[in-house]
Amino acid sequence: MSKKIFSGVQPTGNLHLGNYLGAIKNFVELNNNKDNQCIFCVVDLHAITVKQDPKELKQNIRETAATFIASGIDPNKSIIFNQSAVSAHAEAAWILSCVSKIGWLNRMTQFKEKAGKDKEKASIGLYSYPVLMAADILLYDSTHVPVGDDQKQHLELCRDIAQKFNNDFNAVNFFKVPEPLIQNKFSRIMSLKDGTKKMSKSDPSDLSRINLTDKKDEIINKIKKAKTDDQLMPESAKNLDSRPEVENLLGIYSSLKNQSLEKSITEFKRKNFSEFKEKLSDIIVDKIEPISKEIKKLLDDKNYLDKILLDGSNKASKIASKKINEIRQLVGF
Ligand code: TYM
Repeated sequence: MSKKIFSGVQPTGNLHLGNYLGAIKNFVELNNNKDNQCIFCVVDLHAITVKQDPKELKQNIRETAATFIASGIDPNKSIIFNQSAVSAHAEAAWILSCVSKIGWLNRMTQFKEKAGKDKEKASIGLYSYPVLMAADILLYDSTHVPVGDDQKQHLELCRDIAQKFNNDFNAVNFFKVPEPLIQNKFSRIMSLKDGTKKMSKSDPSDLSRINLTDKKDEIINKIKKAKTDDQLMPESAKNLDSRPEVENLLGIYSSLKNQSLEKSITEFKRKNFSEFKEKLSDIIVDKIEPISKEIKKLLDDKNYLDKILLDGSNKASKIASKKINEIRQLVGF
């Protein structure tokens, strides 16, 4: 049976190595399997859950689409579109929010992290954001959703919402209950400055992440400055738990090389960090520099990117409007 793949990335600028290794690299592999039907969405409705500058948002939407293409997603094979262009997402999110329980949303750890201490001042959109994510996925009868580890809880919620809607409206199997596709290893890339914190676009320090648009010298500099410790490179994976920064850098190296952590450990056993960091920079530059160059090239041709997004949204709209009409009927509209 062919897989129906759906995933989304927020156009909030600074897409980084975590987004690439946790999600986009996987999108490319799924895109390359001819049996899959893939939809990759630039989730601009999600982006406005926190304040955005309208001009920058427009540019970031194009940049995210350019990143998909530059990383190897073929717009002739996969649908690439931006969420706000298909109004069924917002409508389905409203209907699903009337099925979802507040208790479920109260458990979402990402809201707690993002809202921080000032929960009362966070937008309602930031709170109900996982329901919109469920709408995205369910509108396309998606069977598989490739994401990084941080989205696992949102996907579990999506499964609960799908099942509750099917039960509430007596519609057996109406919404397909999707499977998360989270890589076993390296699905959570950590900050270069603190191995216990996720690599994130919102980290105020640019030195905490490798952006997909970074140039060679920036990458080399960031890896040079990446936090390590005063010991030698480890001999085994045994005591890596207490060295999160080292584990993260070895994870990045292994993921880019498509090899096991154990193999990377053997490669650098008892060596100095400087030797490892040099090899790590090389491999990141090899992977990121061509993507970064291609993103810049694509961004020079706004018309091309806008056309990809328009074509994609026309295709997505056809699928989503059929589903939203069925939803309306089930609800009694
Ligand atoms: P977003 O935009 O924060 O991140 C996009 C993808 O990158 C992954 N990711 C990471 N993976 C590993 N290590 C990291 N440090 C790291 N940081 C980010 C995320 O897990 C994600 O896969 N809610 C989603 C977007 C979304 C979506 C959807 C995803 C909206 N609708 C429907 C799947 C299906 C988000 O904010 O991702």
